[in-house]
Amino acid sequence: MLPETTPADDGTPPQSAGDRRPADRVALSADLRAALPDATAAVLVTAGVFAFLYVRMESGDSATVAVMPFMDDPHTYWMYLLSQAFGWSGLLWAWGTVMLGLLLSGPRPARLPVSRQVLERWHRTTSLTTMALMFAHALMFAAELVRYETELAWAERLWAGFADSFVPGWYDSGTGRFAIPIGQGALYLAVPLGLLFYIRHRIGANTWRRLHRFVIVVYVLSVWHTLLYGTNVWYGEWPRTVLWLLQLPVAVLLLLRLLRPARRAQALGAPGRRGGVSLPGWTVRACGRVAAGAVVVGLLIVVASGHDGGRERPAAPPSTSPHAPEPE
Ligand code: HEM
Repeated sequence: MLPETTPADDGTPPQSAGDRRPADRVALSADLRAALPDATAAVLVTAGVFAFLYVRMESGDSATVAVMPFMDDPHTYWMYLLSQAFGWSGLLWAWGTVMLGLLLSGPRPARLPVSRQVLERWHRTTSLTTMALMFAHALMFAAELVRYETELAWAERLWAGFADSFVPGWYDSGTGRFAIPIGQGALYLAVPLGLLFYIRHRIGANTWRRLHRFVIVVYVLSVWHTLLYGTNVWYGEWPRTVLWLLQLPVAVLLLLRLLRPARRAQALGAPGRRGGVSLPGWTVRACGRVAAGAVVVGLLIVVASGHDGGRERPAAPPSTSPHAPEPE
């Protein structure tokens, strides 16, 4: 989620003569400070989403309550609601930082409202905020599980909450058996792929750039996890349609970035030419471009047809719940 930059144009703050800390650490602490306004905005957005979900649960309009009827009291389940709210702000910030990254690494727009340096800084700060929001989402889910498991001893409660939320494969109920490890995969990949930026002087700019490319997988896993497990997008109603629609600009920017990369060395070119890309390399690049094009077409079909994987909202609430906290 961080920009592909060279050491010379990476926006790293210069080290002062008296500052003997490594440049990487200076860059990280400077970015953490710069992320404060961004993180504050994220907290405000999370609070807004929380209030919205709280009111919907209280009024009985919440899709979460339709999926899990026992969860009808926001006063009791506020930690679950806060987890959902952090999930949404995390996904929104992930969307924003991926869009910024694609803007920076794709064809240069003729005119930008702000300088490239500012865009790069926003990309770095929003990606730091995204990681924090993803972690807060999982942490609040763990806290809800700890609160819920009242019949266990404290040590067991803490372990259950931690393991169900953070240990891949531990959570073994319903859709969560697949959806939770997908979310964990997104979180666990986001951290190294994002933070490697700050040690790129040690691992080499090329290695960093090659690895950072895979950050798009984090985003895909996050969206997949949400479509699979988010109870507020469980039914084939407008929230699910909006979630699908939001993926369209990301897919279009990804396609443009692959077709017209900012770095000429990443262009498709002709295979096997001297100084160009090898035939296997060319094939991988060509397949990537075809796949991105197919995703754009696929998204258009999903949105236009309404076949978006959403379930039908039942007239009467179901007797079992798809995921934790488990029903009594
Ligand atoms: C350790 C990793 C993770 C765990 C344990 C986890 C857990 C959960 C659970 C239990 C739900 C269902 C909540 C519901 O009833 O709707 C959920 C939904 C969701 N998750 Fe995650 N998640 C993880 C990672 C992520 C990541 C990386 C993202 C991306 C930002 C994310 C975004 C979301 C969103 C947007 C929802 C939908 C919430 C709603 O429907 O209101 N999650 N997650």
